[in-house]
Amino acid sequence: MQRFHRSIVRIASLATLFAAAAAHAGSADFVDLRRIGPLVGDANAGKTKAAVCNACHGASGVAPASMFPNLAGQRAEYLYWQLVEFQREARPESPMTSQVAHLDDATLRDLAAYFASLPAPAPAQHEAPTSSRGAALYREGDRASGTPPCQGCHGAEGEGHAWADGDAAYRTYPRLRGQHADYAAQRLRDFRDRKHLSSSSDRIMTPVAQTLDEEAIKAVAAWIEAGP
Ligand code: HEC
Ligand code: HEC
Repeated sequence: MQRFHRSIVRIASLATLFAAAAAHAGSADFVDLRRIGPLVGDANAGKTKAAVCNACHGASGVAPASMFPNLAGQRAEYLYWQLVEFQREARPESPMTSQVAHLDDATLRDLAAYFASLPAPAPAQHEAPTSSRGAALYREGDRASGTPPCQGCHGAEGEGHAWADGDAAYRTYPRLRGQHADYAAQRLRDFRDRKHLSSSSDRIMTPVAQTLDEEAIKAVAAWIEAGP
């Protein structure tokens, strides 16, 4: 009986250890974004609060450097939940971690509403031809690697999910059109490497990214930036 009791105690303390280790590894609680409602925020208030964001994301929400994402015209629901993910430390450590650490929830909503209200960037106009591989991956996927067509979730031309206007949950599927290729590629690598697993959206995108090799990531990211 005493031995039985001792092993129960041991199992219990092991379970506590595992729980502590999981918490330490930054495995924030699971968030089900399929159940969210429309975001309510004040874009005017957000504009004032966004002054500190402009250095990296640009005064018009179009970022000057390729590792800083464009925010202009992105859906407010997507932006807000990403800010929450940074605050929960569910996205990998980045300059954003300290940016959002001390912001209250109303501020996150106002910032999301503001950047969503700005006109979305036009696809980049540059000489580098976008490979037909990137366009094919986006529109048709790849049967050999098991990659589904990106357009099924991100819209026919990357403008966001086709059902976004009618259902707030689909506004957490980001628009991709005109996003910087370097940023998009890094996000795809992060999903592939299982660095985002704490929300329903993370777990929707992760298995898609795991079908992509480095060449596919570069091809589809270039297509996202430059477009059709
Ligand atoms: C010092 C530079 C810097 C500043 C200042 C900054 N950001 Fe960022 N932001 C970044 C970087 C870098 C990323 C990409 C991080 C990553 O993917 O891990 C990012 C990502 C984001 C994203 C995610 C976009 C997406 O497509 O998923 C949002 C939303 C965002 N920032 C909003 C803001 C807001 C709002 C502010 C002002 C309160 C702000 N940022 C200030 C550098 C910055
Ligand atoms: C089954 C639906 C689905 C498919 C198919 C899909 N995605 Fe996604 N994707 C999502 C969701 C949901 C998110 C938001 C994840 C989050 O909240 O961080 C996302 C996020 C992304 C992001 C991050 C955008 C940002 O601003 O940070 C990129 C880049 C991306 N997807 C590219 C692709 C590419 C390329 C493909 C095709 C190879 C693809 N996706 C296919 C659902 C999908």
